[in-house]
Amino acid sequence: MKILNLGSLNIDKIYQVEHFVEPKETIKSAAYKELCGGKGLNQSIALAKAGADVYHAGCIGQDGEMLVNILKEHRVKTDYLRHSTKPSGHAVIQVNREGQNNIIICGGANDDVTEPYIDEVLADFSKEDMILLQNEISNVDYAIKKARDRGMKIVVNPSPVNQELETYGLQKVDYFILNEVEGKYLSGKETDRPEEMMEGLKEKFPQAAFVLTLGENGAYYFDAERCVYQKSYQVEAVDTTGAGDTFSGYFLAGLVQGRRIEESLRSASMAAALAVSRHGAAPSIPDMQEVNEILNKEDKEI
Ligand code: RIB
Repeated sequence: MKILNLGSLNIDKIYQVEHFVEPKETIKSAAYKELCGGKGLNQSIALAKAGADVYHAGCIGQDGEMLVNILKEHRVKTDYLRHSTKPSGHAVIQVNREGQNNIIICGGANDDVTEPYIDEVLADFSKEDMILLQNEISNVDYAIKKARDRGMKIVVNPSPVNQELETYGLQKVDYFILNEVEGKYLSGKETDRPEEMMEGLKEKFPQAAFVLTLGENGAYYFDAERCVYQKSYQVEAVDTTGAGDTFSGYFLAGLVQGRRIEESLRSASMAAALAVSRHGAAPSIPDMQEVNEILNKEDKEI
């Protein structure tokens, strides 16, 4: 099975701060870095690091060389990438003392993913293949519709959430990977309780399976028949940026490799914990070997 990730590519402008800047306040950052990111790109790298065969499609500007290079370095196939006349997408990210972030994205070239381009890319994929989408590019709804017409398995990470999401044909989605903010929004339930979100999601999308990540409170896989819980591994948080993307990539790689859900969740959880303990988004994603070594050690200690 080939995985097509039609997703965003961003240049992350990361400001290390004591606390998030408040209205009317000016603060000085302690450090500044520009690194590769974008939920799409991060998830492609996580998939590749977890051993999956992944094709990344999306749009970049003339300034996007570093984005192509990092994908190539990790053996992600980049033949479908297109150049737009706009600059590459970017994200302004504050990371505070506790390693938490807040993020503003600026679409740039990510907003130039057009219907004809989607048709051209999808022409090379079939019902044997899977498409992964996030919500940082244009025409996600069109991509869902066309991928379904081709019989592809559809995975959606509905991040970031916005009102447009409700207009997408989400009844065609096979897997959702979401965090509690996205889970609450899509479930339509005014609740912070995961159990109620899960019920709401199953009612709204009975055709789908879900992964709901809850940060330090673990993650659930659930579908109409079963529910599997995975604890999270506790680490000292340096930078949480990209941890969710790491989880998504590792989980999906396990799924396409035919590994058990329990096993895929466990690797994803360990990979995300390692990502949280490091700076940056894409650069913080660990290798499968490292993840396995730590998990094997845990097995021996049990
Ligand atoms: O999920 C983290 C990512 O969100 C960052 O890399 C940033 O580019 C935004 O897309």
